[in-house]
Amino acid sequence: MKEYDFVVIGSGIAGLSFALKAAKHGSVAVITKRKGSDTNTAWAQGGIACVTSDEDSFELHVRDTLEAGAGLCDEAVVRTIVTEGPERIRELVELGLQFDEREISGHRELDLGKEGGHSKRRVLHVQDVTGKEIENTLLRELGRQSHVELMENHMAVDLITAAKLGFAAEDRCLGVYVLNEKTGEVETIRSDRIVLATGGCGKVYLYTTNPDVATGDGVAMAWRAGVEISNMEFIQFHPTCLFHPLAKSFLISEAVRGEGGILRNNRGEDFMKRYDVRGSLAPRDIVARAIDAEIKRSGTKCVFLDVTHRSPEFIQERFPHIYQTCLRFGIDMSKQAIPVVPAAHYQCGGIKTDVNGAASLQGLYAIGEVACTGLHGANRLASNSLLEGLVVAHRAAAAAVRTRRGSKHNVPLPEWKSGNVQDVDELVVIYHNWDEIRRLMWDYVGIVRTDKRLQRASARLRNLQREIREFYWNFKVSVDLLELRNLAAVAALIVDSALCRKESRGLHYTLDHPGRDDRQFKSATVLSRD
Ligand code: SIN
Repeated sequence: MKEYDFVVIGSGIAGLSFALKAAKHGSVAVITKRKGSDTNTAWAQGGIACVTSDEDSFELHVRDTLEAGAGLCDEAVVRTIVTEGPERIRELVELGLQFDEREISGHRELDLGKEGGHSKRRVLHVQDVTGKEIENTLLRELGRQSHVELMENHMAVDLITAAKLGFAAEDRCLGVYVLNEKTGEVETIRSDRIVLATGGCGKVYLYTTNPDVATGDGVAMAWRAGVEISNMEFIQFHPTCLFHPLAKSFLISEAVRGEGGILRNNRGEDFMKRYDVRGSLAPRDIVARAIDAEIKRSGTKCVFLDVTHRSPEFIQERFPHIYQTCLRFGIDMSKQAIPVVPAAHYQCGGIKTDVNGAASLQGLYAIGEVACTGLHGANRLASNSLLEGLVVAHRAAAAAVRTRRGSKHNVPLPEWKSGNVQDVDELVVIYHNWDEIRRLMWDYVGIVRTDKRLQRASARLRNLQREIREFYWNFKVSVDLLELRNLAAVAALIVDSALCRKESRGLHYTLDHPGRDDRQFKSATVLSRD
């Protein structure tokens, strides 16, 4: 059995930042399903929202975040994350990350981008590949640490907790079972400090801007361990995913609208003006709903993002990745509008934690998209998530170091039992169920919801979960099977949370309860298996 002082599951901005800090105090394992860089972070285009300019202030950033969050943000958490941001950014820069700068009246300063819901330019970026640059910087630094073992192609199966082993008096985290994808064996890893940094769950929907790894693993594992899960009804749909039959999950950054891009319908009309005075740069919930309405009204399949009034030189320099990718699909964005549709993008809820990432189970931390700290409320302000990942990882590392227990409390951990093991020769069942979940979530639990559709989704998901449980216990575990089981669990959590909220707020919009009801629902939705 392997043993580490800290085990981090996930290798995006939050997980790697935690690992780098924790490595100064003990041994660290970073467990990741594919390669280290296969993360949501690496796909982030926009950047990191942070107050760095004299024209901006913490107060304005806090206000914009609270406004986007539609009454559900935890203001103290928002203040902490916003005000501690600049120090964490400085650390990233010290590791060698160079944010874009521009020349202003003879001196160089940060080139700040703008995105929906921000009253000021405050998004630090590296062209349109900010996440990739951050990921590379952190992975490079991780490679220099002798205390850290990066375990690629390993997938966490389940947390080992005191309650599961029958020590119910004081439940706590004791370790984790991990599938070694090369050997097919499930290994037992002991640690009393486990950090879930597994990112989001975009793959629960048919259309998403997320990479294939985003299957809600952390939330599902925490749920099975009896941990509190919060606000899962608030799934953010990004308004502008490239619409092309061969383009899978390609995001057109909101920064394109920040630089003047205008959304137009099939008649060429700047339709957003009809929905919000902020036009194409209104917060995402409003823009995604407006696009959904335009598409339904016109019977067309997409709307268009038009940035052709900017010069080709500017477009190619500011958005090289988006420009080249569109070009590969035959779209020259400097000459023609880009066809776009909304797609599932970000999970605003997750494992309920405090501002130090501590979850409701002793010894368990959740950081980054997998967590619900209270920063995002009912709708995340664009580019606040990388900031949250950095700040909360730092705080979580400090908390985890402070509260370590040491090995004298160790109890024996049982090896993984595979039960009635068979090889999965029924892959077709897995793929069928996977497709069914993603389609039903898209059709019934999307941008606009109704009670009836949610109830229908709930009934179908219960059946699917029953089926999955049956072959989960019969078959040898595989990544496909584990991901399917997690997706089904997370889909059910989204539906159950949405059914609890009989109002419309932020990203949760239902035709049956179209108004906001502050009297009854101005609080987080919290679900727990226990
Ligand atoms: C984008 O570039 O539009 C995505 C930024 C974000 O989701 O925060």
